[in-house]
Amino acid sequence: MEVRTVGVVGLGAMGAGIAQLAVEAGLDTVGHEVDAERAEAARGRIAHFLTRKVEKGQLEEDARDAAVGRLRLTTDVADLAGCDVVIEAAFEDLAVKHELFRKLERTIRDDAILATNTSALSVTEIASVLDRPERAVGMHFFNPAPLMPLVEVVRAERTTDDVFETAFRLGATLGKTPIRCNDTPGFVVNRVLIPLLNDCVRVLDETGVTPGDLDVGMTKGAGWPMGPCALLDLVGTDVHVHASEALYEKLREPRMAPPPRLVRMLKAGKLGRKTGEGFYTYD
Ligand code: CAA
Repeated sequence: MEVRTVGVVGLGAMGAGIAQLAVEAGLDTVGHEVDAERAEAARGRIAHFLTRKVEKGQLEEDARDAAVGRLRLTTDVADLAGCDVVIEAAFEDLAVKHELFRKLERTIRDDAILATNTSALSVTEIASVLDRPERAVGMHFFNPAPLMPLVEVVRAERTTDDVFETAFRLGATLGKTPIRCNDTPGFVVNRVLIPLLNDCVRVLDETGVTPGDLDVGMTKGAGWPMGPCALLDLVGTDVHVHASEALYEKLREPRMAPPPRLVRMLKAGKLGRKTGEGFYTYD
């Protein structure tokens, strides 16, 4: 199937990033949010990053205007009816995703594909509420979606070859390097990255080093693009703790369990950049 129109459900940091990729790739894009205010905030975010590209000479003004013009916003799932692929990037909660998938299946065409950007839930389990689970696939983007080159394309138990390959090609159309993954806990990258970041947090407590020194250590001594504490602030302690718990529940490896220090931060509302405070503080 040739994908011309993409829907993105949930326009938080990840969804807005995915919608940005879609409009930049020339696809008609329908972005869905629960209220108009959040939807407009996402448009503002996308316009801001595209304008930065114009200012830096990476994009023509006309191209930016055309890209922003390809984004249609809605709060009504019925407006996703014409989409070839809908990518769900809503809250990481199985019940929320089940309700959305049920609604979406009643709305979209028979041959349309339902993709989920879940990072730690099972795609097979999300798709289990569908009449036709074979149309579901995982498309897991990385934060920040417009900058990180990878997308994990995840084959669930019932995903058909056609659906999988269409999602794989769409990943490339969106400018990403897609890899083929199976529906195993954390897929590939989070299976490795989540316990690694948990180790980093435990090392903070074991060694008494500051987050700043640990981050300098890992960027200057191990070549990481950003330090583990800065990365956790970017991802959000809420997202990371939830993903850790989901992996721990499935794999029962102690390294997967969220470190108590992160759980304390979460309870104190120190979610990282999104609340202005995590390991570091932000304006
Ligand atoms: N969306 C769109 N554009 C953005 C953006 C965003 N969120 N953030 C920044 N940009 C744009 C900005 O316009 C910025 O330029 P200006 O500052 O001039 O406006 C431009 O991109 C470049 O930004 P940076 O100078 O900050 O770029 P950088 O070269 O320092 O690289 C980085 C930033 C790509 C994030 C790099 O630090 C990196 O690779 N970090 C590691 C990130 C990582 O590991 N992510 C994975 C997280 S795990 C995950 O996502 C899995 C999960 O399921 C939770």
